[in-house]
Amino acid sequence: MEYTTLGRTGLKVSVMGLGCGGPSRIGQSAGISEADSIRIVKHALESGINFIDTAEVYRTEHIVGKGIKNVDRENIIISTKKSTWGTLTPKDVQKSFERSLENLGTDYIDIYHLHGVILKDYDYLYSEIVPTLLELKDQDKIHFLGITERFNPDPNHSMLQRALQDDIWDVMMVGFNILNQSARDLVLAKAMEKNIGILIMFAVRLALSRPKRLKECLNELIEKNQLDPSDINMDDPLKFLIHEGGAENLVDAAYRFCRYEPGTHVILSGTGNFSHLKNNLESILRPPLPETDLIKLRKIFKNVDSISGQ
Ligand SMILES: NC(=O)c1ccc[n+]([C@@H]2O[C@H](COP(=O)([O-])OP(=O)(O)OC[C@H]3O[C@@H](n4cnc5c(N)ncnc54)[C@H](OP(=O)(O)O)[C@@H]3O)[C@@H](O)[C@H]2O)c1
Repeated sequence: MEYTTLGRTGLKVSVMGLGCGGPSRIGQSAGISEADSIRIVKHALESGINFIDTAEVYRTEHIVGKGIKNVDRENIIISTKKSTWGTLTPKDVQKSFERSLENLGTDYIDIYHLHGVILKDYDYLYSEIVPTLLELKDQDKIHFLGITERFNPDPNHSMLQRALQDDIWDVMMVGFNILNQSARDLVLAKAMEKNIGILIMFAVRLALSRPKRLKECLNELIEKNQLDPSDINMDDPLKFLIHEGGAENLVDAAYRFCRYEPGTHVILSGTGNFSHLKNNLESILRPPLPETDLIKLRKIFKNVDSISGQ
């Protein structure tokens, strides 16, 4: 495994993190047993991953808690979150935070995020909820504050652009992938200036793991005039990435694309499948995609800021 420093937190984190939400929820959405999901967590840790992202709303915190039970707490970085949809009160956050501690079997959270924030809610959360988070930080129960965007309805990062104007966020979770690279200019550039730790979600998601979904997304982009159809062969749209010296397959390309983007620190991989976990680890540790392929990807998708790749 390779490790890096998560921006101003100073935490030494593995460049791949285990995502325990997304479409997979470490296999819980596909119906695998709790014991197998616990084995995924343990296997990730044994492979050198020390960064685990979960959230109260994923209903996987207790699985993570069981997976990390016999590991020294200081060797694991736990990122979890409080969802922000609905009207949130400081009391809700307090209760939720205590439940997360209990589920995870720990007495502190390394990074506690406001989860899936949209622009319209940002000012309320900043003035009414952040003070509670800062109190928890003063008590050393939260080590660093994070914020995550809701990438599906906010694919051009309007909320994170607002959040970047404030100085309290140590970590941000950003949607970024081959299809929608808009975070490069809209978020990552400023985040680098402020030395904010960046976690990447949606590296693969559905569009880059299912060929049918990829074509649907590309057709949507053509309709929206964000993709020039002459730039892409719809029979096998991203085939040019797969060649000797290039990517092994599209998922491999997708993780490597994110891994080497300047300003990113941890690439989250959400899976409940042991062979996917192994393959994804191998991908993240391979070298960058060839520069010619990267230039082509930047050109083809330069205008895209309207889809998440869901
Ligand atoms: N707003 C938020 O805060 C927010 C939103 C979304 C996600 N997240 C976090 O970010 C994490 C990662 O996000 P993501 O779900 O977008 O992750 P991702 O790693 O981009 O995509 C996960 C999807 O890809 C599939 N997959 C993974 N590896 C594969 C492989 N080698 N071959 C084929 N399919 C593969 C998974 O299914 P299998 O289980 O079959 O492998 C799953 O359906 C989440 O788990 C969660 O922790 C946060």
